[in-house]
Amino acid sequence: MKTLLIIGIGAGHPEHITVQAARALARVDVFFLMDKGEHKGKLNALRREILERHATPGSYRLVEVLQPQRPLGSDYRASVDTLNAHKQAVFERLLDDEVADGECAGVLVWGDPSLYDSTLRIVEAIAADGGRALRYEVFPGVTSIQALTAAHRITLNSIAGAVQITTGRRLAAGMPDGVDTVVVMLDAHDGFKALIGQDLDIYWGAYVGTADEVLLSGRLDDLAEVIAQARQDARRRHGWIMDSYLLRRRT
Ligand SMILES: C[S@@+](CC[C@H](N)C(=O)[O-])C[C@H]1O[C@@H](n2cnc3c(N)ncnc32)[C@H](O)[C@@H]1O
Repeated sequence: MKTLLIIGIGAGHPEHITVQAARALARVDVFFLMDKGEHKGKLNALRREILERHATPGSYRLVEVLQPQRPLGSDYRASVDTLNAHKQAVFERLLDDEVADGECAGVLVWGDPSLYDSTLRIVEAIAADGGRALRYEVFPGVTSIQALTAAHRITLNSIAGAVQITTGRRLAAGMPDGVDTVVVMLDAHDGFKALIGQDLDIYWGAYVGTADEVLLSGRLDDLAEVIAQARQDARRRHGWIMDSYLLRRRT
């Protein structure tokens, strides 16, 4: 039997890791590190720092693989399915070739594994296949949403209010009905601009929890262009951006 630990490591700050996750890291014999490419060097640096702090020195191996990229195409869902099939093939090879029977493998997941991350779906598919003697455990992490609300010192929800978590892509359809707070992740195109004039506040954060953190908050109508410019500047400076924001109806 092989064991796989799927460990949430928080979304940028090395101390945003639970005691339970730290203990899980110490159990691992082999870590699979998926490298996202040259621009993501800082993310990999954080992973390494976390391993140095919490994994058992001298008793683990690292296996680094280049993460498959999502194929470009107009059908987003189909391209994500293809990406996940490629990732599954990589995971299967790693489990077969790099983990001995009785050993424990570990995967570090950014933030929490339950939030906009395919690792659990992929591992579930591998386990359901039945061809491998595999058990897996999941360890929660601090999400980028919690990091964002803490950085802005705000609550996630208004009193008795509903919250929706969504993507920039979906925001084009407008502020969803029945909620007064929306958290937006994975926004490549300044989706907040679609909601100008709807009397909203925005709490935006880039690289939250890291040394590069940038925060802006206020009326969306006043800040939309400022944030769009800040995103552009950050992309130019770092080569990539990792940001999210919370929109709330003003009362
Ligand atoms: C693929 S999702 C993964 C989310 C992750 N599982 C979590 O629990 O936060 C990546 C998105 O999370 C958000 N994100 C992750 N880390 C962030 C950070 N440190 N600051 C701001 N947004 C972040 C961004 O919207 C980014 O596009």
